Amino acid sequence: MDLFSEVSQSAGKHSSLEERIRKLPVPVISVFLGKGGKIMPAAFKETGINLICKRPDRIVEVFAKTISRSRSIVLEAVAPDESVRVKGKRVAVLFSGGPAAGGHNVLAGLLAALGDDNTLVGIRKGPKGLIKGDCFEIHKEDIESIINTGGFDFLGTDRTKIKSPEQFEKVKQMVVKNRLDGLVIVGGDDSNTNGAFIAEYLETEGIACSVIGIPKTIDGDLAAGKYLPISFGFDTATKIFSELVGNLCQDAASAVKYYHFVKLMGRTASKITLEVALQTKPAITLISEEIAEKNMSLDSIVDYIVRIIILRRMNGLNHGVVLVPEGLVEFIPEMGRLIAELNKALAEYESHISDMPTIEHKRELLLSHLTAESAKLMASLPPDLQQMLILDRDDHGNVKVSQIETEKLLIEKIGHRISEMQRHTDRFFGPGEGKIAATAEQVEDFKKVTLSTQSHFFGYEGRSSKPTKFDAAFTFQLGLAAASLVLAGKSGYMAAVTDFDRGGRVLGLPLTGLITAEMRKGKEEFVIEKSLVELESPSFTVFAQNRDKWAEQDLFSSPGAIQYWGPISKQIPIIVALDRDYPDYDNFDLGEEKQIVNSEE
Ligand code: FBP
Repeated sequence: MDLFSEVSQSAGKHSSLEERIRKLPVPVISVFLGKGGKIMPAAFKETGINLICKRPDRIVEVFAKTISRSRSIVLEAVAPDESVRVKGKRVAVLFSGGPAAGGHNVLAGLLAALGDDNTLVGIRKGPKGLIKGDCFEIHKEDIESIINTGGFDFLGTDRTKIKSPEQFEKVKQMVVKNRLDGLVIVGGDDSNTNGAFIAEYLETEGIACSVIGIPKTIDGDLAAGKYLPISFGFDTATKIFSELVGNLCQDAASAVKYYHFVKLMGRTASKITLEVALQTKPAITLISEEIAEKNMSLDSIVDYIVRIIILRRMNGLNHGVVLVPEGLVEFIPEMGRLIAELNKALAEYESHISDMPTIEHKRELLLSHLTAESAKLMASLPPDLQQMLILDRDDHGNVKVSQIETEKLLIEKIGHRISEMQRHTDRFFGPGEGKIAATAEQVEDFKKVTLSTQSHFFGYEGRSSKPTKFDAAFTFQLGLAAASLVLAGKSGYMAAVTDFDRGGRVLGLPLTGLITAEMRKGKEEFVIEKSLVELESPSFTVFAQNRDKWAEQDLFSSPGAIQYWGPISKQIPIIVALDRDYPDYDNFDLGEEKQIVNSEE
């Protein structure tokens, strides 16, 4: 093709990079390979592992059918029996929730395992499309144009929660009308919870359709310890954010004038922030789970950051990078209580509030239903933040933390604190408990400090990028695993892959074993339990042991663009390698590489 025609191509996903990555081979775990090395669906056997949730008494009542069938036993994939060929099955797939890199390779894996004898049906626009019955058949040519590319745009996605009897009935009609033998839900904790309920419902209704979940979310909060170390999309998002944060660290040290406050996506869990901190070693990193554990107030967080800023100044550094996890506000105990009270009031007066003409009216009503302590805290927050806190929750009852500008709140409070300290140096410096030890010269120098800040929010730029090699491989196996579970007639499981450093192990986790009871919109609901940063984990320990060094001096790393080529393009997330005790994190091993699309074309 001449250069003019090449540049003129406008059909989408036709950059030189996209053309090349489509042709990259993808590894395949040996259980998915037949004798001649051909990709095939795996078979499953029961393991001796029981996945028991936290509230078995309640969960057994709600998911009676699914649990009596699965007996909460984890399944393990084994090499296929080539004499058994399942034919004529129709399997539908949908994306649900926020995008995460690798979704298109899930589709590639599904189609590769289904082969020519079965049909893959794509559902447009997530759970909403499932209810509407909006679907089409996916063919090999489709896969050839999307494999290894980013985004969820091929199918679309949404966050509808399937909850009403009418919605369940519509799902049933859709399954029956399209003669579906399987439904694969690619989603996070809320979407997989949806999957568990749909599996139970269809079984109760006598509809033979396997429902299988696939763990997707950049947040990394859908995980099950050694059985599923991480969800897909996490590796890509953290590598993209690490590159950007590394660049900011480099810029801060070059321009020597800014503190960059970076809010990182991840919703409730600080896993993304922890991974990015381990990759880049910035001056200051907040971990929400630790803040909750230490019962730190907003003021004490501000104090912690200010003290590091002063320490760095004394070491001649007036710049740095501060990482702030997206869900921080919910973990500051006083803020958490305020949000819980707001959630309850919002749920109780839902229709009344939605009819109110202005945000000020809503605020007044909600304030009157808060405890005195929470009302005082609410009133002390900047108007923008108050407005964000009273915004509608999403369909699953989550606060829209991506819209809360915590990094700006911290900047404002830190600015005030520093100017207060500059005005009253005698209260903050000198001998005495809680005071900062400093020479007269250092105090004089501190009085001249001006804090120049920049705020950033990295989130959306990491969700739809092209998958890293790891996510491309991981998602392909998840697709193979989900199709294999459906063809084996299993329902109510989540496809899982583990042992990333030794050829990969493929499991089917009973969804009900992951479910717990949580307060949502002020009510108890059954949802898949979120996997948060554990403060005893090796990954947090390494971070906690090193952060003081990273605070005192510039010791940052800038990992760079590391998705495809180069010495670290085959890395496993550091937190996975540390927490699962892998000997190193430089090379994932998920099987022998296979050419999925024809590289000659
Ligand atoms: P999922 O849990 O659906 O994967 O979404 C993750 C996420 O990217 C969060 O990190 C973030 O808080 C949220 O989505 C933002 O959602 P929205 O797309 O509605 O702005």
